[in-house]
Amino acid sequence: GELVEWQGPLAPVRSPICLRGDRGQPEQCVIGSTPLLDADAALGALDAAVKAYDLGQGSWPMMTVTERIRHVETFLSKMKQQRDAVVRLLMWEIGKNLPDSEKEFDRTCDYIADTINALKELDRRSSRFESEQGTLGQIRRVPLGVALCMGPYNYPLNETFTTLIPALIMGNTVVFKPAKFGVLLIRPLLEAFRDSFPPGVINIIYGRGRDTVSALMASGKIDVFAFIGTNKGASDLKKLHPRPHRLRAALGLDAKNPGIVLPDVDLDNAVEECVTGALSFNGQRCTALKILFVHRSRVDEFLERFNTKLASLKAGMPWEPGVKLTPLPEPGKIEFLSNVVEDACSKGARIVNEGGGRNTGTFFYPAVLYPVTPEMRIYNEEQFGPIIPVVPFDALDEVIAYVCNSDFGQQLSLFGNEPKAMARMIDACANQVGRINLNAQCQRGPDTFPFTGRKNSAEGTLSVYDALRVFSIRTLVATKDN
Ligand code: G3H
Repeated sequence: GELVEWQGPLAPVRSPICLRGDRGQPEQCVIGSTPLLDADAALGALDAAVKAYDLGQGSWPMMTVTERIRHVETFLSKMKQQRDAVVRLLMWEIGKNLPDSEKEFDRTCDYIADTINALKELDRRSSRFESEQGTLGQIRRVPLGVALCMGPYNYPLNETFTTLIPALIMGNTVVFKPAKFGVLLIRPLLEAFRDSFPPGVINIIYGRGRDTVSALMASGKIDVFAFIGTNKGASDLKKLHPRPHRLRAALGLDAKNPGIVLPDVDLDNAVEECVTGALSFNGQRCTALKILFVHRSRVDEFLERFNTKLASLKAGMPWEPGVKLTPLPEPGKIEFLSNVVEDACSKGARIVNEGGGRNTGTFFYPAVLYPVTPEMRIYNEEQFGPIIPVVPFDALDEVIAYVCNSDFGQQLSLFGNEPKAMARMIDACANQVGRINLNAQCQRGPDTFPFTGRKNSAEGTLSVYDALRVFSIRTLVATKDN
């Protein structure tokens, strides 16, 4: 195969941004198109990746690390030339505001540069063993085969590249399916892919996952599967693989990260962190704070300050200066969020901020719900959007029980200063979540830090360093004793 982007009939891509139609009605405009592939076309892309993973001299998996790094460096420099086009599409396709769109692009370039440096370091490490009896061993780090990389719509560039680039640089060949929203922004990079990698090494497919990805998994030819999305999506796809014991998976899944506000807290800091933690990119981050437990003695004060801060966030179009709250890309999302709010209100919660839950077209104004109790959907369900459920608590045990009983375990944030209470929470929760943030919101970065989760929140660990290990395997070549 000579293709980077695999071809099919063109399908329109709509923007979540509502413009006024002829009669003043909100209308989502078509901003481009992508080829829509069926199962056969997707299998064609897979065949190309399988062929490119040949172990003959000079093939991609057989190249030296230095050679592969050179290809990725070429890609990075060509990618950088597409910054404006990609940033513009991030705003139009997923409604991410300008500073965050720029940050996503720049963070991705930094991630690629850091990956190159991390691999140089890994390659320099000694990998020889010698026993007293004279047995010699030499470690070889080798690729796994064909990788299927899929990313989420909230970071359609950054998160997909945190698996795609390590998969490539370690010598795997790749089939890459862009996120369901944020597909067009890959197209300005096609030439960079084409000019930087040998044919068949990277194969981009678009289309409905149930046609394309299902066929790829069912073929049994995928060796490593990188997926960031829902737990259900990942497990349904994994089940299709006929030889699951031969499939390695790197999964970033659902989360319900709690923010826990203890009585002796610095409230200014906690409010600041909770507002951005819950509402950056409208709460559409796996690492967003998705439920807040606030000690009853501080809850009135907390809510008042939280609402004041929230009211200062400007809503509007992603490219407008200072805008923090923007339209949501997922069709059906407004209805889902409204239902979740309605459910909570029917069970005793109130919307305690001015205008909370108001929605127009594709825009949903954040709703702060209080008091939230266990029988409400929002207590355990992930909202992945601008709803802030607040639960009052009296004793640490109540919050510890929530963390331990939750099916999710990505991160939590702990706001307080009293050393004993902080230590108790850390001890009780350390084996329940992948990361505990002290007086700070939950987040994935810095990208050199391990990013993982427990229970239904992740499988494997990603980071600049960890991803190199995820997409390779260490084999020991040993001689017998002399
Ligand atoms: O959606 C999940 C992302 O990995 C969150 O990344 O914490 O850098 O926003 P972030």
